[in-house]
Amino acid sequence: MRSKMPIYHQLGSISSKRHTQFRKSETEGAGLYYEEVFGTIGFEGMSSLLYHASRPTQVKALLPTYDVTPKITSGNSLMMRKLIGFNISPANDYLESRIPLLVNRDVTIGLAAPRHSLSHYFYKNADSDELLFIHRGTGHLRTFLGSIPFQYGDYILIPRGVIYQIDFDSEDNRLLYLESHAPIYTPKRYRNNFGQLMEHSPFCERDYILPRNLETHDEKGDFLIKIKKQNIIHPVVYASHPFDVIGWDGYNYPWGFSIHNFEPVTGRVHQPPPVHQTFQTDAFVVCSFCPRLYDYHPLAIPAPYHHSNIDSDEVLYYVDGDFMSRNDIAQGHITLHPGGIPHGPHPGAAERSIGKKETHELAVMVDTFRPLMLTEEALAIDDGQYYKSWLEH
Ligand SMILES: [Fe+2]
Repeated sequence: MRSKMPIYHQLGSISSKRHTQFRKSETEGAGLYYEEVFGTIGFEGMSSLLYHASRPTQVKALLPTYDVTPKITSGNSLMMRKLIGFNISPANDYLESRIPLLVNRDVTIGLAAPRHSLSHYFYKNADSDELLFIHRGTGHLRTFLGSIPFQYGDYILIPRGVIYQIDFDSEDNRLLYLESHAPIYTPKRYRNNFGQLMEHSPFCERDYILPRNLETHDEKGDFLIKIKKQNIIHPVVYASHPFDVIGWDGYNYPWGFSIHNFEPVTGRVHQPPPVHQTFQTDAFVVCSFCPRLYDYHPLAIPAPYHHSNIDSDEVLYYVDGDFMSRNDIAQGHITLHPGGIPHGPHPGAAERSIGKKETHELAVMVDTFRPLMLTEEALAIDDGQYYKSWLEH
């Protein structure tokens, strides 16, 4: 059975009974609000019921489309990579700032350094859930279902179909982003049959940053939405403001979660990577490596053992702190350990970890079940030497 989302949520005004007459006030003409079921996976996934001031279907113009398909290289797929993420150039426009780096048919992993807020058009991803991780910057994600404040360390999950804009408080913003064709959920094993996060889950419902401050603009005019579908951007002009929802309720909505609220699971001996899992899909997992106490067996080796990730590609995005198992790693770096060859701590890292009490490392890991391909932009920021960095001198 498909899993449940966070929790039931409601903003604004809704009718007391679904699918029945829900009317505007007399002063507004007493016309009907326009109800929309906003869901995924046909009618079997999570959904919300929205009430629009105007029909959400009033297309005025379809402007010329443009192709944003990632430019894939034919680089060696067994080569360990280290990408210098902060070498990605900032760009003024939010969509143009997003640089795809690692791609397969399930997911795109990229970095963005947007300088300006996205405010002069709206954006909607029609075929991917988006997961943003805020490395630098503060602001608000503004959607037709409410707004989500964000700051350093926040994940923001934006289900496919959500129309949004983003306000940044300054020009210094660094984001990691994922676009996933498979819906992104919290791990099933953290939840009971009713969808509630259980006691052993490293986070709980109180940690969710839920949408708030529903904006309702009952306005007519020309409103541009850039809709991404199958790597094409479709600029569509609508006749009514996309943020015209008077109220909604349900389970399908954007939400946030701070990595700093992930409570690490520790043990006497080294715990395997799944204890860090934060999100799941059918095609990849996302894990959060957070500051934590080290293993406390008297003979414990806190650094990880070598492991043979024969079935998955492992991507690590380094956020902060000293990453205990690596040498020569800095903020914003991305390492790729491709499936098919084992990897493990750098020379000296295991010995160095013995007797240490805690780590301040902060990193986001994405393990994909199908191999990733590098884009031209990724190759341009690859250090080219990383694959030899385990050699003993
Ligand atoms: Fe690993």
